[in-house]
Amino acid sequence: MGLPRSRVVITGMIPEEGVAALRAEHDVVAWDDAQPIPRDELLRRVAGADALVTLLTEKVDAELLDAAGPQLRIVANVAVGYNNIDMPACRERNVIATNTPGVLTESTADVAMALILMTTRRLAEGERVIRSQQPWQWGMFFMLGTGIQGRRLGIVGMGQIGVALARRAKSFGMTVAYSNRRAVAPQLEDELGCARLDMGELLATSDIVSVHCPYSSETHHLIGAEAFAAMRPNAFLINTARGPVVDEAALADALSTGRIAGAGLDVFENEPAVDPGLLDLDNVVLLPHLGSATIETRTAMATLAARNALAVLRGDAPLTPVAG
Ligand code: DGY
Repeated sequence: MGLPRSRVVITGMIPEEGVAALRAEHDVVAWDDAQPIPRDELLRRVAGADALVTLLTEKVDAELLDAAGPQLRIVANVAVGYNNIDMPACRERNVIATNTPGVLTESTADVAMALILMTTRRLAEGERVIRSQQPWQWGMFFMLGTGIQGRRLGIVGMGQIGVALARRAKSFGMTVAYSNRRAVAPQLEDELGCARLDMGELLATSDIVSVHCPYSSETHHLIGAEAFAAMRPNAFLINTARGPVVDEAALADALSTGRIAGAGLDVFENEPAVDPGLLDLDNVVLLPHLGSATIETRTAMATLAARNALAVLRGDAPLTPVAG
């Protein structure tokens, strides 16, 4: 006889592969609307759940955990970032939290590289010229951008995605420096030809600064007015990590006053809202949080989250518990 079926609540739409793996062993309640589940509905649905499979749009706090009840064993987040989860509240209730590291590394680094090219080469701006049917003609000085070969990429947060971006940047002829709490392995520094710098030096010497650190109270507005003042006026900022690492109002000011040259953002402070100061600027590229948005990656994220939930419900260790 197998294990008794548990109640698993999936709080948002995820690829079918993840849902099917859970349904094979448990009773699953899934939210099947592309819009995030309203909070009151969420609080109602989680009652009695043994496992929650959550998206980054859901705040997993004491209220939600208590609404689920004391039998809750795991919150399996379908994201590598887990700033939506109150970790102390989970620990107090002996609830395991897991995330999905590794499986979205390459797709997110692809988007960071794409933003580097889009901003430095003014690609989105160029596309707007065509779509708005403005007259244009090839010209020697028409829409000149900045070449990236030989330029320095400064990576803030050298985890898996930072490293994957460094590899891409190297193949584009860039040099790489990074800022991180810990140094990466010396072999990796050799392979990437990169040096660890303190934040001040990184900001002052990089042509492109790309943010890849997790969001926490320590990294809230890590890149704000002071950082923009330290950056070169011809430098670009890229953010594919979490919006609130960057002070969006200070960024809008730095971009509109020419304090820095441009920015490429895939994430925002108050998603889905975007600081109105950014919307009319041509020197910023704005993407709607697409870093992990490929069919392959989203399927791998859902499958990994499901495997985490299944493992814990079977009494096994989770595959990827969050570090925090
Ligand atoms: C994550 O997994 O944290 C990403 O932001 C999702 O795209």
